[in-house]
Amino acid sequence: MQAVNATATTCQRVKPPATPLAVEHADLCFGDDEFAWRRFRERLLDRIEASEWSSSKPPEMITGVVDMAHHALSASSCTLYLCNGHGHRVYYKKRNGDNPARASHARTSTLDGAATWVMQHRRPIVINEPGDRAPLQGQQFEPLDTHGARVLCIPLLADGHLLGALEATRRKSDEAFSDHHLETAQVIGTTASIALENMRLRQSIEEGYHSTIRALASAIDAKDPYTCGHSQSVAQYSMVCGMVLGLEGEQIRTLETAALLHDVGKIGIDDAILRKPRKLSPAEQGIVRDHPVIGAAIVHDIGSLREVVELILYHHERYDGSGYPHGISGEEIPLGARIIGVADAFDSMTTDRPYRRALTINEAMTELLRCRGTQFCPQALDAFAIGFTRYYNELPRRPRVLDATGYAPLPIR
Ligand SMILES: [Fe+2]
Repeated sequence: MQAVNATATTCQRVKPPATPLAVEHADLCFGDDEFAWRRFRERLLDRIEASEWSSSKPPEMITGVVDMAHHALSASSCTLYLCNGHGHRVYYKKRNGDNPARASHARTSTLDGAATWVMQHRRPIVINEPGDRAPLQGQQFEPLDTHGARVLCIPLLADGHLLGALEATRRKSDEAFSDHHLETAQVIGTTASIALENMRLRQSIEEGYHSTIRALASAIDAKDPYTCGHSQSVAQYSMVCGMVLGLEGEQIRTLETAALLHDVGKIGIDDAILRKPRKLSPAEQGIVRDHPVIGAAIVHDIGSLREVVELILYHHERYDGSGYPHGISGEEIPLGARIIGVADAFDSMTTDRPYRRALTINEAMTELLRCRGTQFCPQALDAFAIGFTRYYNELPRRPRVLDATGYAPLPIR
């Protein structure tokens, strides 16, 4: 309240900024009042902080930047250009009268002259009069839809790295952009650049994390030529099942990671046992049965994998309590582990093993349904059967034996 009162005392024409629209015509109120502009920019920073751009998801964050610049600069349109690293630029645009909830979004390989010049020279430009366009003369590019309009455009930079540009336009009949507007745009642009760079770094860390998980899953599968691609397939079947059950976001990502790593404990088991071309002896079976416990121990101390420990530990438990390592049953078994159990069994049955040929898809489905409510959780199994039918064309094409008549989805009970 104090900040609002202080500004109101300095500039009696300013109304308290109760809504985002309250800043729309700020320039008309402040004129050249340096103190009022400074207070205005402080309020903008408060509002940016409250909007939590740095922790927002990309679409919300970008819409927030475009929306704020559109209002704060009293622009008739505002555009955020982002470099995507492939020679194209993504842009988000908002014009007066557009839906306030979002900015329109498109991809382009050509930009208007001001944005191109700003990104090439990494300097802002303000065009109020035809003479201000002098820097653009003789360039390869020509202004597009900004022809004849007033333009204010700034580069978005983080640590010297070009992220894009933020551009505001006004009609020729509107008031000219001033240094105050440029400074206001730079406040928004600098903060947006930090948030965008954080977003880029976060995405890069996540991509590195997923690549590491996939490489680890491939290393597990490579221990046995018969299980090549098994972890990836189990992950895709599990995600299909999870989507049918309504899992989303972090839940699906946890399920995918756990499915990719469900057999990570096999890293600790002798290759001679894993690759044995005959049926395992009871002693060897006992050693293989340790892999869920070994796997859970491997990932236990990795903070980012804490959520997947139980899914790895319990993926061989059975719904009726006859599984291992602990013999827990029903809903004591985490849902993710019950899903992975179904996906794991289906992929194992439908691929060749040294001691048997692969079952057909229908044979494997029949076997799964025969064990519904005993080995397999009914909820997870039904979701898998629905998901397998629904997403069949998008699922992995591992070596598989089809029925003579081809795949025909089974009726779901
Ligand atoms: Fe396993």
